[in-house]
Amino acid sequence: MAIAYLDPAAVPRATSLTRSEGLPAGPGAPPPPGTGSPGLPTGPGARVAARPGSHRQVDLLAIAQGFAVSAAGITELQGIRERSWVLLAVTDLFEAWAIGWPPGGRIELHDHGPSSGAVVVASGVLTETTVRPTRHEVALIGTHRVEAGEYRCFGPRYVHDLSNDGDDPAVSVHVYGPRLTTMSYYELRPRGRLHRVRSDTVPPVGPFDATSDHDPS
Ligand SMILES: [Fe+2]
Repeated sequence: MAIAYLDPAAVPRATSLTRSEGLPAGPGAPPPPGTGSPGLPTGPGARVAARPGSHRQVDLLAIAQGFAVSAAGITELQGIRERSWVLLAVTDLFEAWAIGWPPGGRIELHDHGPSSGAVVVASGVLTETTVRPTRHEVALIGTHRVEAGEYRCFGPRYVHDLSNDGDDPAVSVHVYGPRLTTMSYYELRPRGRLHRVRSDTVPPVGPFDATSDHDPS
């Protein structure tokens, strides 16, 4: 269940745009780098245009870091037995979620469609597994330990999973821009080939929505 938790004061001002290269290989997977795929932001944060051709820009990492200051104390994410999420804010430029991870909590490999994102761990420790393509139809798998105060930023079609492999709960803040519209889910096939299992349309959330069934991880 997701609960609206709008805190406009925590939203910093937008800044400039930085983007670079992109992702995966295998049937049904997004195209590899150099074939028109957008992708991973470089620099200190994920800064994206509000929409193609728009001059309005937003710093996803700065927003996520602002919310992460207090996200660990969100009441609805205390003592949870399964992953839960709380809507922090939604605008026409981005949406922000806090996600609670009990020990053992995880999500399968997925992307965020055309959205870029920033993930900041507010408390606990998460493990991110990333899958990136090569030109030889073999995926490169990376594992990243993300502790409280640390972050990961990504561009469109970035494929990863997240898990809480520790004994303590964790809370993370996820900010996506433009707002999530689709998410695809993958499994890793033999020889490192990434296979798309399904794609979901993400229903839009409004500022006064109290719940969302869709997992925004
Ligand atoms: Fe994700």
